[in-house]
Amino acid sequence: MTRFSPETITAVEQATDIVSLISEYIPLKRSGKDFKALCPFHNEKTPSFHVSPSKQIFKCFGCGEGGNCFGWVMSMDKLSFVEAVEMLAERAGIKIEKPAARGGASGGIDNERLLRACEWAAAEYEKYLWDDPCGAAAREYLAGRGLDESVARRFRLGFAPASRDTLVRGAGRRSKDAADVLERAGLVSRGSGGDLYDRFRARLIFPICDARGRVIAFGGRALGDDGPKYLNSPETPLFNKGISLYGVHLAKQAALQSREIFVMEGYTDVLAAFQKGVENAVATLGTALSAGHARLLRRYAEKVYLVYDADFAGEKASDRGLDIFLEEEVDAHILSLPEGFDPCDYLLKSGTEGFLRLRENAQEIFEFKVALASRRHDLATVAGASRALDEILSAVARVPPGARQDLYMARNEVLRALAERLGASERSLRDRLRKLKSRGPSEPHEGRSVAAEHPPEEKWLLETLLARPDLVEKAAAAIGPEDLTSRDLAAVLEEVYRCAVGTGDVRTSSIAGALAEAGLGSLVVSLAESGAEVGGHERRLADCTARIRKRRQRRELSELRERLLEQSRQGDREAENELLRQFQKGL
Ligand code: UTP
Ligand code: MN
Repeated sequence: MTRFSPETITAVEQATDIVSLISEYIPLKRSGKDFKALCPFHNEKTPSFHVSPSKQIFKCFGCGEGGNCFGWVMSMDKLSFVEAVEMLAERAGIKIEKPAARGGASGGIDNERLLRACEWAAAEYEKYLWDDPCGAAAREYLAGRGLDESVARRFRLGFAPASRDTLVRGAGRRSKDAADVLERAGLVSRGSGGDLYDRFRARLIFPICDARGRVIAFGGRALGDDGPKYLNSPETPLFNKGISLYGVHLAKQAALQSREIFVMEGYTDVLAAFQKGVENAVATLGTALSAGHARLLRRYAEKVYLVYDADFAGEKASDRGLDIFLEEEVDAHILSLPEGFDPCDYLLKSGTEGFLRLRENAQEIFEFKVALASRRHDLATVAGASRALDEILSAVARVPPGARQDLYMARNEVLRALAERLGASERSLRDRLRKLKSRGPSEPHEGRSVAAEHPPEEKWLLETLLARPDLVEKAAAAIGPEDLTSRDLAAVLEEVYRCAVGTGDVRTSSIAGALAEAGLGSLVVSLAESGAEVGGHERRLADCTARIRKRRQRRELSELRERLLEQSRQGDREAENELLRQFQKGL
């Protein structure tokens, strides 16, 4: 955890105009004293996303997302709070001090150094590819795949020579602990004898960048017969496969403009797409699609096309990847390629038009799952039909309750037909759905707005403290985060206290910023907003602290009672008497 001084944060925030910042990402329209747009965080037809120049915040009245300038770039570019401050400082031309590192999240090596190491390695690999005789085989491979030099250079492809210590030796000349940094960045490994050697050898290198275009990891394709066909960097403090998408830094502009994005199988597919002018293309990194990916994709586009080759599509249909899109309500479509093609080959053979035409036959994921279920079972038999119906209902059960789920239930012809054939009534379908649903989705829905579910007195407490930081001290004397039953609100309260003790600065924007990574930024903003709308803060504080304390007392007493019962069962007189005394004191 790192932290800037409050002065720095304020300076950067004040130097950033949220309207011009957000306009760099999505088109804004003036509406009264605010600006409006289609919300980039959820799917909508009429704009409910507002940007307020006077308050310098954004807020979507549809999905509840909101925050300040830091929250915006954290969400859109997937940055940590520290990175968001750094980025906006750079954008505003403000020089900032390094945040003091707390603890050794990177084993004493800060991310800055890891980034510099990755950047250095990328440049080294580029030199070997283009300027060294040893890069010839890699250049030939690219030419053989039909990929142009210009696109390869744009993606900063490189070549890792066959030697065991290209980077290790290069680093040794740079500084004493440079090799340790490379190890931390996943570029070199340590042998059993403690010797360091390069992870990537005799491979064509694909640097993997974050949304800002900084190199954070690498993928390498074998050119010899050694080892796996593709090798990726391990997870490092910079690199989390579950939220990384290859090409995202180059694809996000085109995706935001067209509101569509193609998810390809791999590196070469993304390159081929760009070569053919399809610049809204990304790929996962040899891992299944995660909820993190789904949310990231939804930020850049309304419509996601999963581009799969023919066999792949059938295989992946039962994959968690598709369920995640149902759970996250992302408008995803399967774009299947003709037999025998991978996306790269198809793009290069049939060209831009031919590829884009495939969208016409793309299948919405739910439809796709339905089609698959009907193919997998023999619908002519009752047993087969009922299994297919069950499979379809479990897909519906993945979708959060609401309009989309109702639509699937009411409109899907196969589902209707099967239900009719089996004589299943609407009621029995709903019952079955409810049972499937109570098993719940396989991953929790983080990031959803949960404000309505919090105990009111806990909400009041935070509304009050965010509106009136001068009351924090008083509250801290009476109530701790552990007294709250809502885990989210407890986290907010903890941050409020930490800010008050640490910097004395309890501003909504810094608290929202610090908690944005945990998905609580919007919650903080909406609490602060509702807190500002009501008055009588002192009375409210007294009221909710009293309620929370009473609740705590009740809980402590009932725990005491439990223990008392336990002790008397065990016949420990001494302990029983002591507990009894406490119990009576509590009353
Ligand atoms: P492909 O096998 O389609 O790669 O894998 P390719 O580059 O198109 O292969 P060639 O050149 O036609 O033979 C697609 C993606 O799957 C992941 C990589 O991300 C790759 O880009 N992958 C594949 C791995 O992670 N490991 C592997 O061993 C293979
Ligand atoms: Mn391929």
